[in-house]
Formats: sequence, structure tokens, C-alpha cells
Amino acid sequence: MRVVTLGRGNVGSGLAELWRSAGHDVVELGREGGDATGADALLLAVPSGSIADALGSVTGLDGIPVIDATNLVRGERPGGFASLAEYVKSITGGPVAKSFSANFARIYDRLGTTRERPANVFAADDDARAVTESLIRDAGYEPVYVGDLSAARAVEDFLGILFACAGTVGPVFYRFAPPDEF
Ligand SMILES: NC(=O)c1ccc[n+]([C@@H]2O[C@H](COP(=O)([O-])OP(=O)(O)OC[C@H]3O[C@@H](n4cnc5c(N)ncnc54)[C@H](OP(=O)(O)O)[C@@H]3O)[C@@H](O)[C@H]2O)c1
Repeated sequence: MRVVTLGRGNVGSGLAELWRSAGHDVVELGREGGDATGADALLLAVPSGSIADALGSVTGLDGIPVIDATNLVRGERPGGFASLAEYVKSITGGPVAKSFSANFARIYDRLGTTRERPANVFAADDDARAVTESLIRDAGYEPVYVGDLSAARAVEDFLGILFACAGTVGPVFYRFAPPDEF
């Protein structure tokens, strides 16, 4: 697949490396922006306060699924949207998924070393679901679909639990599975 990452920080660069290792063609964009024409997906990995600026610097986004990894660390969600992902959708007008926001970048290097694949909870528009699932798997996680974009807020709110865990046991992987898969 051809993947564009927007934001060259822990998440953007980290996932770019994992996806390249899985054989994808990854183009990394930063503040200078660039062209996303023909991409199978764009990963949005910038601070939540920079979402509009960052997306505004990218051309050729029409209809390209955006995988929104952003989290609200402080302040309010812009425009009164229930989730950052729905705010993203209000800007791009295309399919959006919420994923990778509930996974610590600091332990990307432990992916592939565990007995079980860690989970990655995600919410997605129908048109963004399959590509997001593939990219979750290719990064080394097990996708756990929690619903359409109206479930993005629940994914964003999961950060509270993850931060609380990080404060007690450090950055964690997690897994959700039916009883017979545990
Ligand atoms: N770190 C994690 O474990 C983690 C996990 C899940 C989700 N998240 C979320 O994912 C997002 C990125 O996190 P991160 O840890 O990767 O942050 P980071 O390391 O601080 O990187 C953010 C990147 O975004 C760039 N950026 C800022 N404004 C931009 C703009 N207008 N256009 C393009 N790029 C811009 C920054 O560029 P400059 O260096 O030039 O400022 C930087 O390279 C945040 O919303 C965060 O809450 C983080």
C-alpha cells in the first residue's frame, strides 16, 4: 500500500518505520505538507491543536481514508465535536478512522516480541475500516473494531485508563478477547 504519514514525531515516524518493514511504500510529511494523491491512507499524527493546520498543508486528500491517531491531552475539542476524529472528518469530508491513539509509541519496539499480539482498539467509517485493519495488523497489533466513527470518542476516552496504567506499571499493551481466546 502507499501510506502517507503526517507528523514526524514518535507516532508518525514510528509507524512509518513499522509499515516500511511490512513492505509498504510510506511517504513522511511534516510541517511543510505535501501531496497525498493516490495514497491508500493518510495517518494523522500531530498535536490535536495542529490538526487543521496540518491537514490544510496537504493536497490531494479527496476521498483518501484518514487514520486519526491524535489525542486531546489538554484543552477542548475544537468546534464542539464529540471526538477529534469527527472534527477531522468535518475538515476532510472523506472516510476517517480513529486508531493508534490508544497505543503507546514508546513500546513500538516491543511489537513482535510478545506471546500474544497486543490489541489496537479502533473505530472507523465503513470506507476506512478495511485499510485501517490491514495497517493495524501490519504494525503488529490485533485490530479490535468498536464501531463506526460515533465510537471514536470512546476510543479517545480510553486514554484515561492507559495514562493511569502508565502511571502505575509503565506503558502497557492490552488485549481484548472472548473467553475462549484467552
Ligand atoms: N506518543 C504516544 O505514545 C502517542 C500515542 C498515541 C497517540 N498520540 C497522539 O498522536 C499525536 C502525535 O504524538 P507524538 O507523540 O508523535 O507527538 P510528537 O513526537 O510531539 O510529534 C508531533 C509531530 O507533529 C508535528 N507537527 C506539529 N504541527 C504540525 C503541522 N501543522 N503540520 C505537520 N506536522 C506538525 C511536529 O513537528 P515539529 O517537531 O516541527 O513541532 C512533530 O513532528 C498527538 O496527538 C498525540 O497525542 C501519541
